[in-house]
Amino acid sequence: MTVTIVGSQLGDEGKGGVVDLYGDAADVIARYQGGDNAGHTVVEDGTEYKLSLVPSGAVRGKVGILGNGCVVNPKTLFEEIDTLREKGLDPDVRVARRAHVILPYHRVLDNIEEDVKSDTDIKVGTTGRGIGPTYEDKAGRRGIRVGDLLDPEVLRKRLEYVVPQKRALIEDVYNVSLADVDDVIEGVNVQDAFDVSALFEQYRRFGERLDEEEMTVAAGKFLAETIDEGGEVMFEGAQGTSIDIDHGNYPYVTSSNPTAGAAAVGTGLGPTTVGQGEVIGIVKGYLSRVGSGPLPTELGDIDDQTGGTGEGKEDEIASYIRDEGGEYGTVTGRPRRVGWLDMPMLRHAARANGFTGLAINHIDVLSGLDEVKVGHTYSLDGEELETVPATTERWERCEPTLKTFEGWEDVDWDVVAEEGYDAVPDAAKEYLDYISDELDTPVYAIGVGPGREETVVRQNPFE
Ligand code: IMP
Repeated sequence: MTVTIVGSQLGDEGKGGVVDLYGDAADVIARYQGGDNAGHTVVEDGTEYKLSLVPSGAVRGKVGILGNGCVVNPKTLFEEIDTLREKGLDPDVRVARRAHVILPYHRVLDNIEEDVKSDTDIKVGTTGRGIGPTYEDKAGRRGIRVGDLLDPEVLRKRLEYVVPQKRALIEDVYNVSLADVDDVIEGVNVQDAFDVSALFEQYRRFGERLDEEEMTVAAGKFLAETIDEGGEVMFEGAQGTSIDIDHGNYPYVTSSNPTAGAAAVGTGLGPTTVGQGEVIGIVKGYLSRVGSGPLPTELGDIDDQTGGTGEGKEDEIASYIRDEGGEYGTVTGRPRRVGWLDMPMLRHAARANGFTGLAINHIDVLSGLDEVKVGHTYSLDGEELETVPATTERWERCEPTLKTFEGWEDVDWDVVAEEGYDAVPDAAKEYLDYISDELDTPVYAIGVGPGREETVVRQNPFE
């Protein structure tokens, strides 16, 4: 039995809390895509840990796997592991030998490309972690894999091939002098980032440490054996369906597939294994977005709200939701754009992922509003659309047809979490029933606060 956790919107739906909650019953938690662009906060014994790579389950005594579909920055990985160890924890993290490695030049290229695009409407607003350039090299068959770090001869050969290309790309294509980018990117020594010997030494040592600590695995084999021995496996998607490279609003997407199909490809198990289990869509009761791209149900204008001049009703609601929901990026600290729930986006996600259950989060954040709205359908060129158009240009022109729900009062959500579904305010229940009916999927859990205890659990997919 496996359970796959997928973001059904734009990332930041509160997947971490659900992984934490249901992950209790799992033996192994495997991430199948993304890298240190993700951010999750884990609270253990009253201490808060902000993690971007170490799977949250690894803090709770589970085996955490970074599957072959992930891109791994070893520097981030070891920094996170060392911080956790300093606090007395002993995370058990294994990394797929087939996963690709983020090198410093990927980060430099990510930042330069965003800079070059800054005056255009195709700037993505990436996290600057080198995610896109690393997946580009993977697809371009010039990437370096985790297994290569353990073989100095292969590592050197790969670096000797690729590094001069990267240097030429920066100097001759982007026309940027490396001296000018120095010190711009935190934690990256730009000169060393394009020096084969410096990279070789640093990454060979990462390989040695991965080997000494027996952290590398053939992920598919490891997971298949776990399942054969009766173990429970959870797949943890990062980001969300609308920023999936295939199913999201391209080009404002991340460079991997957060959708459920990638749980198979990104770990080395078959779709039949993933498909026999449950796929839980994580939904936030409203929308938030870091970075560019269409957001038809957006409330007001982020520049007005963060510039302090936003006085309209929509700006006010957006600021209220942003502050109540702590809508600031975990990795970047950027204030997020905010919008009403978008049903065309969710119908698209339900089909692309095949959800068997939903966890709907942040219902507490919306409390206190007089009314809560939802983008029920879109209207585009005189047509009514139930789901999102396949091109972003059309998506951008969609006008939401809003449906209004009565707001619900702010209550003691800890009590609601303790007493269960019956204690959820009636108006909120109506909202949840609407989402469930539209997506034809049962609601398994309702998030009413940031901690895993602050969840109303109606069903545990592992039971
Ligand atoms: P990248 O993944 O850093 O290349 O960024 C590509 C897009 O995905 C940008 O719009 C980012 O803001 C967005 N993104 C990446 N990771 C996350 C995440 O964990 N939550 C929300 N958005 C993300």
